[in-house]
Formats: sequence, structure tokens, C-alpha cells
Amino acid sequence: MIELVLPSTKYKESFIAAAEDMKQHGREGFVSPAVQKFIDYDVVRLENDFEDYIVKPLLDSMNGINLPKGYVAGTDFWIIKDGVFVGRINLRHELTEGLLRHGGHIGYVVTPAYRKQGIVTKALELCLKKAKEKGIEKVLLTCDASNHISKHVIEHAMNKFGGYQDVSEKVGETTILRYWINTLD
Ligand SMILES: CC(C)(COP(=O)(O)OP(=O)(O)OC[C@H]1O[C@@H](n2cnc3c(N)ncnc32)[C@H](O)[C@@H]1OP(=O)(O)O)[C@@H](O)C(=O)NCCC(=O)NCCS
Repeated sequence: MIELVLPSTKYKESFIAAAEDMKQHGREGFVSPAVQKFIDYDVVRLENDFEDYIVKPLLDSMNGINLPKGYVAGTDFWIIKDGVFVGRINLRHELTEGLLRHGGHIGYVVTPAYRKQGIVTKALELCLKKAKEKGIEKVLLTCDASNHISKHVIEHAMNKFGGYQDVSEKVGETTILRYWINTLD
């Protein structure tokens, strides 16, 4: 069973296993900022200081506390499969001008060991429900045009739940694809 939960020390062990998997295999796929963040985690701090290093800052940012300048509040939902941390999907509560061009409402990452099992497809559907609960009627998802897997995930959700592709954004040499998807009751 796939569920979305709030960050908790309950998942410390599998979160650390995910970070180790990401450090070892994360560069084999598309290295998004969320993948890089995992690769950069300090494993000693994860082991010794999980609550203050990981959980508290995420819960704070969900409540708009201690946000870096220019950041909006967002909820980092942890994707749990049968009790195990397998990835995360982040829902930003609002858009800035920057996020409107590139970044959007939702970002996600699945740990390499659990990819190609339909996990993000399901997590995105659950996140569309979380967005609706927050009063968001449609969410913006963006992806690098070269990230074929994410493009596939987003277009699948757009075709299933309704939405449309917006104009693309050129960022240097990169083309950012932009999609609006209806949220779900
Ligand atoms: C993108 C990512 C989250 C996909 O997660 P996932 O749980 O493996 O995705 P799913 O299993 O739900 O697969 C979704 C679709 O992509 C396809 N797919 C997944 N991995 C694939 C691969 N390596 N090659 C080809 N197709 C792939 C699946 O077959 C599935 O297609 P279907 O719906 O037609 O069956 C994961 O690859 C990842 O974490 N990538 C790095 C971070 C990233 O790119 N984030 C997005 C930034 S915009």
C-alpha cells in the first residue's frame, strides 16, 4: 500500500537506507535538485540528529517557519510503501513568479531501488487530493524536457485527471515543460 505521511522519526531507518541508495545510484538517472539534496545528506547527522537535521526543518517549512528568503511554505510528504520510506513528494502551498516559470507546485523523487513500480504515479494522484484539501484547484508541474520519465508521469496524470500543457520556458540551454493538472476530491 502506498501512502503519503508527514515527516517523522518513525521512518528514520528506511530514510537513511534511501539516502545511501541515492548516494550510490542517484546519479544513474535524472539528477534533479531533490536527488542532489539526498546525495548531499551527511549520514553521520542522519544517524545522530535525525529529528533536528531532517524532521523539524521540514515541519517548520510546512508551517512557514524559518523559510529561506523568497521561499514559500510547502509540505514534504513522505511516500511510504508497506511501512517503508521510498521517496518524497513536495507540495508548495503557493507559487512565486519564479515557481510559476520553473518549479511549479509539486516536485518528487523515488529512491532508485523502488523505481519503475508505479510509485510516483500513485503518489502524484494522492498529492492531487492533498492539494485540493488545501484549496488549490489546479497545480502546476514542470519538468526538464530531457527528463522523459517525469514528462511521461506528468502527461499520464494530465490525461487521466484533466489539465493542459502551458507554454514552455527556456532556461539557458534547457527547455522546461509546464503543465496544469486538476486536483482531486
Ligand atoms: C521520475 C521518478 C520520480 C519516477 O518514479 P517511479 O516511481 O519510478 O515512476 P513510476 O514507476 O510511477 O513510472 C511512471 C511511468 O514511467 C515509466 N518509467 C519509469 N521509469 C522508467 C525508466 N527508467 N525507463 C522508462 N520508463 C520508465 C514507467 O514505466 C511508467 O510508465 P507507465 O505509466 O506507462 O507504466 C524517478 O525516476 C525519480 O526519482 N527520478 C529522479 C528525480 C526526478 O526526475 N524528479 C522529477 C523532477 S521534475
